[in-house]
Amino acid sequence: MNRSWSRTRFPLTRLLAVLLLATAWLAGCAGQSPSGHPHATDPAAPRERQASPSAPAPRLQDPPELVSRDGVLRAAIVVERRKVRVGDHRLYALTYNGMYMPPTLRVRPGDRVDLTLTNRVREDTNVHVHGLHVSPRSPADDIFIAIRYGRSHHYSYRLPRTVTPGTYWYHSHADMMSAAQVAGGESGVIVVDGLRRYLPPALRGITEHVVALKDFQIHGNAIRTHKLKIGTRTNRTVNGQQNPVISLRPGETQLWRLANIGANIYYRLHLKGNRFHVIAQDGYPVRRVYAADTLVIAAGARFDVLVRAGSRPGATVLETLAYDTGTAGNRFPRTDLATVVTAGAPVAPARLPTDFAPNEDLAHAAIADRKTVVFTENAAGDEFYVNGRTYRPDRVDFTSVLGTVEEWTVRNDSDEEHSFHVHTNQFQLMSTNGKAHDPDHRWFDTVNVPARGNVVIRVPFADFTGRTVLHCHILNHEDMGMMAVLDIVPPRPGGK
Ligand code: C2O
Ligand code: CU
Ligand code: CU
Repeated sequence: MNRSWSRTRFPLTRLLAVLLLATAWLAGCAGQSPSGHPHATDPAAPRERQASPSAPAPRLQDPPELVSRDGVLRAAIVVERRKVRVGDHRLYALTYNGMYMPPTLRVRPGDRVDLTLTNRVREDTNVHVHGLHVSPRSPADDIFIAIRYGRSHHYSYRLPRTVTPGTYWYHSHADMMSAAQVAGGESGVIVVDGLRRYLPPALRGITEHVVALKDFQIHGNAIRTHKLKIGTRTNRTVNGQQNPVISLRPGETQLWRLANIGANIYYRLHLKGNRFHVIAQDGYPVRRVYAADTLVIAAGARFDVLVRAGSRPGATVLETLAYDTGTAGNRFPRTDLATVVTAGAPVAPARLPTDFAPNEDLAHAAIADRKTVVFTENAAGDEFYVNGRTYRPDRVDFTSVLGTVEEWTVRNDSDEEHSFHVHTNQFQLMSTNGKAHDPDHRWFDTVNVPARGNVVIRVPFADFTGRTVLHCHILNHEDMGMMAVLDIVPPRPGGK
């Protein structure tokens, strides 16, 4: 299916300029794998790439990487307010290591993570590893802690060997301030290596790109962090860049790690004239690869996709289509995100995989408990509830038993969509509004719940006890109450 790229909406001059640039870059990169790091574990390799300052249409830059070495990821992250380049602007941002698009943390199943977070901003913060199946207790992924100004906190834990490969992310989970801090810049990508082993041999060395989606609004000389309005005009970025160029050779297949790591908004991604071939969702590889013309990426969600360029040179657009989250929600306009250029020496198009990775299946699991989680909001839209209550960190709202599987109905009794997320364990999506989900790709950690609708999920409580949270990942909603505490407790001795 080598469709030719659609060329509508592209003035010829822009197309020519972009093609010339792409050709020049490809010539310049001949001999090295252009930002593809199939086994990116060589700690000596330089990870930071510099943009050519004179280039009118900047090439997409992958974030720098912090890579685990000999089974350990040692990372130091400093939170700092700094003036940085954000898209086409220079603004004060809440940065990790001085960057609006901070390093990607690259680990493998079974690795130790030793992460020191130092707070140099005059408000409390902390960091959460979104989607990773690790303990919710200190010194692991404890989101109840507050790291004060001037202090450091040491996170230390081992990833189980069963951690599934794919794309995850890290972000501030500061109580009542997650939206502000994430909007300000406090989010980055985590990659768990291992997806490539499911690819056919011809594709194992393909180039990959992080395609991290963040947006910013401007307030004076800074990114707006407070009084965020979800519906106002915003600047969408890819890896912190506005409308960068992603280049492929004719026939080339690449792996793109699509990650919605902004504070509040949704994306409905579309690559004109082409399709996404989904190989993993929320860090869980699919059983069978499926092709999608559009992908709705709710706040916090990720998709790992293969993209195969057509056989002819050309340019197209990676865009987010207009999307409406409901009468109490928001209408996001169509926006260009990146220019995708096919140029250079052609590559023989590879066959894309169909059967992909083994998937656990809870369809026939014994269900230890059934729970109902209801999302509602007040008419003013400034208070949001789980089962009628706003969040309190010191109150346990749900209790589940380690070693069991539960079925939850997550019901949305409001007139806008919400992005349901639970920490610590991934879940299997059974149905949306009563319609069964495709069993070939139904593991997630974040899922959209339609307005006045519901989803049914099955959650396995494995490996870890402790207090954790579930919430809406539209962080404005989370900060205004739409979060609840889940306590995972050990089974009673001899008990049920
Ligand atoms: Cu992205 Cu509570 O998480
Ligand atoms: Cu999370
Ligand atoms: Cu919400």
